Amino acid sequence: MEIFRTRQAVRAAVGRWKRAGESVGLVPTMGYLHEGHLALVRAARAENDRVIVSIFVNPTQFSPGEDYAVYPRDEARDLALLEAEGVDGVFVPSVEEMYPSGPAAVGTAVDPGRLGRILIGRLRPGHFRGVATVVSKLFNIVQPDRAYFGEKDYQQLLVIRQMVRDLDMPVTIRGVPIVRDADGLAMSSRNVRLSPADRAAAAVLSRALDAAEARMAEGPVTAAALRRLIEETIRAEPRAEIRSVDVRDAATLAPLRGIVRRPAVALLAARFGDVFLIDNRVLTPPVAPPGP
Ligand code: PAJ
Repeated sequence: MEIFRTRQAVRAAVGRWKRAGESVGLVPTMGYLHEGHLALVRAARAENDRVIVSIFVNPTQFSPGEDYAVYPRDEARDLALLEAEGVDGVFVPSVEEMYPSGPAAVGTAVDPGRLGRILIGRLRPGHFRGVATVVSKLFNIVQPDRAYFGEKDYQQLLVIRQMVRDLDMPVTIRGVPIVRDADGLAMSSRNVRLSPADRAAAAVLSRALDAAEARMAEGPVTAAALRRLIEETIRAEPRAEIRSVDVRDAATLAPLRGIVRRPAVALLAARFGDVFLIDNRVLTPPVAPPGP
């Protein structure tokens, strides 16, 4: 496994592979890897000749006062995990390598428009602009044939798909299902920052989504009723501080009114202590039984 610390080094290796006719898959991450990240790596491994993982805690997607400074990092452990997965190359740039004039001095950015301002974008202004910009830089540096993103960050996946479509980027985006711990908590690098009591309490998030899924399977239900059910389930856990619960159109994230008749996505964000967690579930209405 090769480790690249400069844009030039990763470009040279990818250039060699492409000239040999090999396909390249990219898995962008911020490190502190867990089974969720490794699921993306395995999906990439399965359909590309070469796999590159990037590890970069991107300062421009954190707002002042967020957890950039305390975001967990462990490069040696990450590299060992990736070596064991048979990854070909790891791109681990410094902040100076990615932003030579400093992260605050970037002149050109990718603005995801409305999709970047709603939901998580409202809670974290500028977040998706930072994500879209760094991912477009990674695409330009690595020039992968395919890139892999988790459905865990549902809105992020839609932002990336929209960017690739709108800007005609020659890369195929693949979404990978959410990987969960045994109690249902979606894996996240941030989970290690939860106190033991909060870690146990955080399982309420996936239980709330289970409840919504079960309710959807029972028959016609409104988006508002699903949202209330999720909120009530989370509120029963006093350690959880709800930041947002929304049930939206799964394809566009547009608000839904009345009975849900198309695939919807329930999206939630909550804090436990100072740790911000998100989760989501796509809820598909059951096929109506044939009429009389
Ligand atoms: P990070 O949070 O490290 O996540 C990297 C990728 O792993 C993302 O596509 C994310 O959706 C996916 N992922 C995380 N937890 C997952 C889980 N439990 N199951 C499945 N996939 C999971 O997302 C980012 O980094 C950054 O915003 C990035 C795209 C790298 C840009 O900086």
